[in-house]
Amino acid sequence: MRAAYIRELGPADVIRYGEIPAPVPGPTDVLVAVRATAVDPVDTFVRSGLFPTHLTFPFVVGRDLVGTVAEAGPGVTGFRVGDRVWCNSLGHEGRQGAAAERAVVAADRLYHLPDGVDPDTAVAVVHPAATAYLALFVHGRLRAGETVLVAGAAGNVGSALVTMAARAGARVLATAGPRDAAYCAESGAAEVFDYRGPDLAGTIRGAAPSGVDLYLDTAGVNDLETSVALLARRGRVVLLAGAGTRPVLPAAALYMNDRSVVGFVISHATTDELAEAAGYINDLLGRGALRARRTEILPLSAAGAVHARLERGELHGRRVVLRTDVP
Ligand SMILES: NC(=O)c1ccc[n+]([C@@H]2O[C@H](COP(=O)([O-])OP(=O)(O)OC[C@H]3O[C@@H](n4cnc5c(N)ncnc54)[C@H](OP(=O)(O)O)[C@@H]3O)[C@@H](O)[C@H]2O)c1
Repeated sequence: MRAAYIRELGPADVIRYGEIPAPVPGPTDVLVAVRATAVDPVDTFVRSGLFPTHLTFPFVVGRDLVGTVAEAGPGVTGFRVGDRVWCNSLGHEGRQGAAAERAVVAADRLYHLPDGVDPDTAVAVVHPAATAYLALFVHGRLRAGETVLVAGAAGNVGSALVTMAARAGARVLATAGPRDAAYCAESGAAEVFDYRGPDLAGTIRGAAPSGVDLYLDTAGVNDLETSVALLARRGRVVLLAGAGTRPVLPAAALYMNDRSVVGFVISHATTDELAEAAGYINDLLGRGALRARRTEILPLSAAGAVHARLERGELHGRRVVLRTDVP
């Protein structure tokens, strides 16, 4: 089969495209005929070694796929040949990736694609949307009626956070560039503030005088001196980006108000958490309530070039979908 794969960790140009042996499913696995995969920031972290995880070479890159069931192991229930399916947890912890014509997926990591949902639309959102679900509901413990601050609200993860938090009955405050304000409001933000504006913290405090219950910074600035001070009592900051930052933590402002700072990566989500997120995502996909702002369709052979563009910061707010059937 044709695949985008690596034989060693390294920069984007270690990605090769060509023939490797097709994988063989085990008794509780499903073999998927892959239609498309997406390119996520974490794919570049795995490829480069920034995110250490067990891999075997040749290693197929990529987390997410959409496709159809080609074969189901004898111990698999719930999937039949021809079913439309998606997955967002390949390509780490010993699992081969998704950027290939065929991929083996453990049945408990595979989900049906709802009828009527366009597969390319789905594969473009399943990673940022699952990240948003975990941030809000698993690690952020969001409840209806709370106030959420989403920094970087026009991005891939940010727009999914805004959509989901608003639908869960939260009041969403967003920060974004002025050109993205209308998009954030359409996604469900009650108020949108220019992240380069003067006295942003004062503006947020004015909009949430009782404090922010959940603070999420997808831009990874991680200014904890500011964000912790903006929290309500028992407010939470959930860290999910900005691996290189070294923020100052205001200890008194934190513990004397029962506030907390937690972090997470989707890579460590359990199969139960991922399945819970998938159910929520499928519901939104079925309602047409979740879509990438901009999607670019390219052939699978472009994987290396797309990794390089992502690392140069050229894909802001745009998702690239790599199709196995596009020459
Ligand atoms: N923890 C996890 O499991 C997990 C999972 C997925 C992704 N991530 C991480 O999440 C981050 C976001 O990914 P993404 O795909 O959503 O990126 P993205 O689409 O590029 O979005 C980032 C957004 O942040 C905005 N921004 C930049 N500087 C800002 C600032 N100072 N204040 C507020 N907003 C600012 C950008 O706006 P401009 O266009 O104006 O610059 C852009 O809209 C990445 O670091 C990624 O690695 C983590």
